[in-house]
Amino acid sequence: MGNVGEVYRYLLAWDDAGRLTLRDTEHARMKPVYAEFAPRHSGRGPDPLLRALGADAQRVVDCTAGLGIDAAHLAASGRVVTAIESHPVLHALLADALERCDHEGIRARLELVHADARSWLAHSGERPHAIYLDPMYPPRPGSAAPRKGIRLLQSLVAHDPGSDRDLLEIALSHARRRVVVKRPHHADPVLPGPRGGTRGKLVRFDIYRPTPDSRP
Ligand SMILES: C[S@@+](CC[C@H](N)C(=O)[O-])C[C@H]1O[C@@H](n2cnc3c(N)ncnc32)[C@H](O)[C@@H]1O
Repeated sequence: MGNVGEVYRYLLAWDDAGRLTLRDTEHARMKPVYAEFAPRHSGRGPDPLLRALGADAQRVVDCTAGLGIDAAHLAASGRVVTAIESHPVLHALLADALERCDHEGIRARLELVHADARSWLAHSGERPHAIYLDPMYPPRPGSAAPRKGIRLLQSLVAHDPGSDRDLLEIALSHARRRVVVKRPHHADPVLPGPRGGTRGKLVRFDIYRPTPDSRP
């Protein structure tokens, strides 16, 4: 327990709806953030993330679970998903959301892991069809403020391009068919040489082929 008068930047608390929430006390007016595993409302046209992963990628590892939005989308689409998150607070939000999740398909197909995905991939012996990465990116100067969940993520988790490159290199030697990396349109690829990709309104999905000796 802290001393009386001690100031805390972040608070984890259950809200009235029984959700574990994270509050940033430096931005008292910002609504608390929580994770929610729910299917995404599908927009118009083909889904760029699902297209990038390919219809044959039934087993996917999401190495950057964050608030679980993409992992839920993948599980709701019928993929079997392992979602890995290294930050202990974000992992706690995800674990709470998974307990509350009432979508049977997501519950049945999504496994949550608290680990650094680089060591998990190196030691688990898993060889998923596809690996998905959505690394942090720095706020773009002059652009609109990101939505609250992303703003809180950006204040908690450092943008670390070196570790993102390491993660992508390790992913390339463990995926059977492809590695997909989400990037904002303005950002360079994490590593040179994506072999194609798909584009959404705000982001693109770079597709990499695994290194040859990692294929089955
Ligand atoms: C931009 S967020 C991902 C958002 C996520 N796609 C979603 O739908 O909510 C990136 C997340 O990846 C996590 N991360 C970054 N590197 C990681 C690693 N090596 N292992 C596990 N998690 C990692 C960060 O802690 C952060 O929560």
